[in-house]
Amino acid sequence: MSLPGRFITLEGGEAAGKSTQIARLAERLRRQGRSVLELREPGGTPLGEKIRHLLKHDPDGRGMAPETELLLMNASRAELVRQRILPALRSGGVVLCDRFYDSTIAYQGHGRGLDLAAVDSVIRLAVGDLRPDRTLWLEVSPETARTRLAGRKAAQVAAGGSEPIDRFDEEQEAFFARVTRGFQDSVEAEPARWRRVDAGGSVEQVADAVWSAVADLFAEA
Ligand code: TMP
Repeated sequence: MSLPGRFITLEGGEAAGKSTQIARLAERLRRQGRSVLELREPGGTPLGEKIRHLLKHDPDGRGMAPETELLLMNASRAELVRQRILPALRSGGVVLCDRFYDSTIAYQGHGRGLDLAAVDSVIRLAVGDLRPDRTLWLEVSPETARTRLAGRKAAQVAAGGSEPIDRFDEEQEAFFARVTRGFQDSVEAEPARWRRVDAGGSVEQVADAVWSAVADLFAEA
């Protein structure tokens, strides 16, 4: 699908710093005068945010079947694509999305062990022909991820906030190892779309690496 806008997605494990980097990249592109939409998955529409709550925090979601999880992720995605992503790309905007269908392949396919062909057909139904122009994999070591997550939790407690349950944070290391292998497989299968970004450095260092990984998409002809 060829649309006038640019569609960039960021992928990675927990605490890779995706949302911080999306904000930084958006700021840089807006300074160049571009129209930028920042989105996250699951979520990004009123209905999608409700689905996000079911998937991550609602106690009734505990123990949901992997198939239910797959379908809910893609219900949120179907809304996001039709209500927000396609209209923005058609009008020439830049869309930056914190996770997209590669997360489904990694988490529901490799992590939960669902059949990859079935996962693929559900994704196709949700997104049609839409593909990201570029996908960044923000990589951090498991140790860095653990330290960042612990810091985040401590800051929440210090601010007096109670920690909402997050079904994904409660998964075991073996699950996240399968997810990481899933991302690796996707990068190897489609190297032209993907860029690996070392996300272990400072916010500034990672922001520079992110810019290097997308700058060619904005080089004027
Ligand atoms: P996050 O916004 O904090 O990254 O939380 C989203 C969680 O949902 C994260 O643990 C990854 C997971 N997820 C999936 O399992 N499949 C998907 O398709 C997407 C978009 C996210």
